[in-house]
Amino acid sequence: MRQVKSISELREQLTTVRNSEKKIALVPTMGNLHEGHLSLVKQVQAKADFVVVSLFVNPTQFVEGEDFDSYPRTLESDLQLLDNLNIDLVFMPNADEIYPDGNEVTTVVTVPELDSIYCGKFRPGHFQGVATVVSKLFNIVQPDVAIFGNKDYQQLLVIRNLVKNLNFPIEIIGSSTMREKDGLAMSSRNQYLTDSERQQAPLLYKCICETAKSLENGEKNYAKLERDAVSSLKAAGFRPEYLNICDAKSLKTPKNQRLVIIAAAWLGKARLIDNVAVQTL
Ligand code: PAF
Repeated sequence: MRQVKSISELREQLTTVRNSEKKIALVPTMGNLHEGHLSLVKQVQAKADFVVVSLFVNPTQFVEGEDFDSYPRTLESDLQLLDNLNIDLVFMPNADEIYPDGNEVTTVVTVPELDSIYCGKFRPGHFQGVATVVSKLFNIVQPDVAIFGNKDYQQLLVIRNLVKNLNFPIEIIGSSTMREKDGLAMSSRNQYLTDSERQQAPLLYKCICETAKSLENGEKNYAKLERDAVSSLKAAGFRPEYLNICDAKSLKTPKNQRLVIIAAAWLGKARLIDNVAVQTL
């Protein structure tokens, strides 16, 4: 497994790969790898000849006061896990390599509307940071295919939009959310939960699933379903930011039968997000 820190070395290595007409895949991550990340790698390995995983805790997607400094950084175990999976190359730049003029003055990518609702409303600037770093990684690696988890559903839509609007010739794969046995979506931030919060945490998924079931059973009063779910979360000690039933493609008010229920809620120091897709009759 090749380990590369600089853009120039990465480009040099990938030119040879590209010249041999190999299909290149990119798995962008912020490190602290768990089963969710590893399943992204395994899926994309079946689709490409050469897999690049990036490990970069991107400062521009953390909003003032968030956990950028304390975000878990576990480089050695990440490298071991990736080596075990026989990936081809790890790109692990530092912030100066990605933002040579500093974070504040870099050119940015914004995805209007989508980037300012739901998570974008509660984390202003977050999706601009994601869209910018993902665009940079796409330009640096120039993959044929890239894969992202469905757990970050709004992020996935932001990325699909930027790929379409900026004409990146890259296939984007959205991969199913990996869950713990009790249903909690895997996330690096689950580590912030105390033992008792960890017991409570699966309730977020449970509430979303119950809402999904009601929709599938024909309930049309979305506002009531949303209110009931938020009340259950509050009663269990969560601090919900939102739980909404939306159009699966635009996250706007549903117009057809393809819906998604998206939610974000704090439990202690952990901000948990999750979603479930629903196809109504
Ligand atoms: O989902 C993540 O881990 C990050 O937002 C991403 C896509 C790697 C960009 O930093």
